[in-house]
Amino acid sequence: MPKVALVTGGSSGIGLATVRRLAADGMEIVIADVNEKGHNLVEQLHKDGIKASFQHCDVSVEEAVKQTVEEVKKQYGQLHVLINNAGVGNREIKLTDLPVLEWQKVIDINLTGVFLGMKYAIPLIEESGGGAIVNVSSLLGFKGKKLMSAYNASKAGVITLTKNAALEYGKHNIRVNAVAPGVIDTPIVDGWKEQEQKWEVLSRANALRRVGTPTEVANAIRFLVSEEASYITGTTLMVDGGGLTY
Ligand SMILES: NC(=O)c1ccc[n+]([C@@H]2O[C@H](COP(=O)([O-])OP(=O)(O)OC[C@H]3O[C@@H](n4cnc5c(N)ncnc54)[C@H](O)[C@@H]3O)[C@@H](O)[C@H]2O)c1
Repeated sequence: MPKVALVTGGSSGIGLATVRRLAADGMEIVIADVNEKGHNLVEQLHKDGIKASFQHCDVSVEEAVKQTVEEVKKQYGQLHVLINNAGVGNREIKLTDLPVLEWQKVIDINLTGVFLGMKYAIPLIEESGGGAIVNVSSLLGFKGKKLMSAYNASKAGVITLTKNAALEYGKHNIRVNAVAPGVIDTPIVDGWKEQEQKWEVLSRANALRRVGTPTEVANAIRFLVSEEASYITGTTLMVDGGGLTY
C-alpha cells in the first residue's frame, strides 16, 4: 500500500515542489490549501502520473483542519506523512504600528495552523502505525528582521512546537522535524523581488550568494520524512544556503 501524505499549502512554491518530490517516492498526496488553483493543479498532476487530491482548507480554522483530516481518513483510511507548510508573510511594519488583527492573522496561519495540523493528524498517523511530520519554519525563526515581528515570532514558535510534538509522540513512532528555509524563490517573496536593490542584497545574504529553489527545500523535507532520517526527530534543518552563518 502506498503511503499517504497531507501537504498544507501544497498549491504553490515549496509545498508544490514537496508534493512532486514525495509523489516521486510513490506517495499518494492530499493537498490542503485555500488556493482554489489546487483543483486544476490536481488535474495537471494526474496527467504527470501523480496521485493527488485537493481539499479546500484554511489551516487557521479548527473545523476546516478537523474536516480535512476526517476526509483523508474517509478517502484513504490512513495517513503517514504530514507537511505543515502553509504560511503567509507579513506586511513590513514597525511593531508599534502593527494592528493586532494583522499580528493575529499571521500567528493564526503560521503557528496555530501548524498546531491544528498536528492536533488532528497525529491520531490518524498513530492509527496508521506511525510516520513523520515536517513543519516549515524559517531562517527568520532563528534571527530577527526589522518590520517582520509577527512573522519572526510565528516561525520561532514553530521550532519549539516541533520539539514538543517530537517529545510527546516519539514513543508512538512519529518523528517530528522542521525545516528553516532562507530566501527561496516563490510567490511569497514577490514583494521583495519588486524592489530591485533590496532583492539583490537579500538574495546574496548567505554563504552561497544566491536564493534557493523550492525543490531544494522539498529535497530536505523528503529526506526528513524518509527512512534515511529514522533517528532524527525534534530538530530543525536549515535550508538557507548558509544564511544563518552569514
Ligand atoms: N519563500 C521563502 O523565502 C520562504 C522562506 C522561509 C520560509 N518559508 C515558508 O515556506 C512556506 C511555503 O511558502 P512558499 O514560499 O512556498 O510561498 P507560497 O506563497 O508560494 O505558498 C504558500 C501556500 O500556502 C497557502 N496558504 C496561505 N494561507 C493559507 C491558509 N490559511 N490555509 C491553507 N493554505 C494557505 C497559499 O495559498 C500557498 O499555496 C511558508 O510557511 C513560508 O513561510 C518561505
